[in-house]
Amino acid sequence: MKVGNTHYRSVWPIGDDAVGVIDQTRLPHAFATRTLTTADDVLAAIKTMAVRGAPLIGVAGAYALALAMREDASDTNLTTAHQRLNAARPTAVNLRWALDRMSALLTPLSPAQRAHTAWLEAACIADEDVALNQSIGRNAAVLLQAMHADVKRPLQLLTHCNAGWLATVDFGTALSGIYQAHDAGVPLHVWVDETRPRNQGLLTAWELAAHGVPHTLIVDSAGGHLMQRGDVDLVLVGADRVSARGDVANKIGTYMKALAARDNGLPFFVAVPSPTIDWSLRDQMNVPIEERSVDEVSRLTGIAASGNITTVRVVDQSTTVANPAFDITPARLVTGIITERGIAAPPDLAALFPEFRPAG
Ligand code: MRU
Repeated sequence: MKVGNTHYRSVWPIGDDAVGVIDQTRLPHAFATRTLTTADDVLAAIKTMAVRGAPLIGVAGAYALALAMREDASDTNLTTAHQRLNAARPTAVNLRWALDRMSALLTPLSPAQRAHTAWLEAACIADEDVALNQSIGRNAAVLLQAMHADVKRPLQLLTHCNAGWLATVDFGTALSGIYQAHDAGVPLHVWVDETRPRNQGLLTAWELAAHGVPHTLIVDSAGGHLMQRGDVDLVLVGADRVSARGDVANKIGTYMKALAARDNGLPFFVAVPSPTIDWSLRDQMNVPIEERSVDEVSRLTGIAASGNITTVRVVDQSTTVANPAFDITPARLVTGIITERGIAAPPDLAALFPEFRPAG
């Protein structure tokens, strides 16, 4: 993805003992990068959401484990670092997936071999993420092109949260297809949910603007109305965890969009790379739903007239606040899951990945 004239990934190695990241807490007001030199630095960046989005959290977690091995490559530290990192953001399965892959590779090695091998593996996971997202984008773009041929006017999409370049190493999941379709000349427009409380929709709007994709920011509750009015052709989102039968855990508010889409007879598509599919998940309700700080709801951050990024409290201090960060859209509301292998309705998802045997 280009910012100005410079091509960026969302995370990149610096030498073999630091990683660069984009500080997403400052976007869309300021573009700033940070250098993270310890596993704890990366852990803090994941927890504070300077680094966020399921695939990106997974890759950052892999680099964090590699940094942990540079600090102390003992068996004990491998186990402890894995556990601490895994607990940072519980809903997105990509973090667990990447840490499990790293640990499986590192455990049989001697401590002296671990740091170097871990660094190479983290870079490999990052490169794989880019390739997966490009393939998802190709598959989604074919779908969008076909849908555009049906509507014979600019295709109207609605997306929730940020499933773009910033949420991955590059290209994004849901937005990857939008970028590819746009680049191929498919006229389209994206309704961007604001996505309270963290306002990831502002990141989506920033990305779409950087790529020249027409879009409009809306409040989270506007989607149903736009669908009723005939102003949405399809909903396209990413996910943090998809069960083998196609239930979708994604940013809070996704479920309501799926319900509204169903009520209005509109397709609801979910774009995910295979590391987001949790083949071990038997019961959709077993997904750990992250409860985040109530400050995210009671405070708003924006840019003041002075040009400074400022946070203000908007909720009375006596008000009780809750902040569940994700919800689950049952498979029956999902039209199709767009993966690097192709698009499948939920019952056919497992057939795209015969090497994984769904649990139970
Ligand atoms: O809390 P976040 O910002 O990490 O949540 C991100 C999302 O919910 C995205 O929709 C999801 O990770 C898909 S990203 C390609």
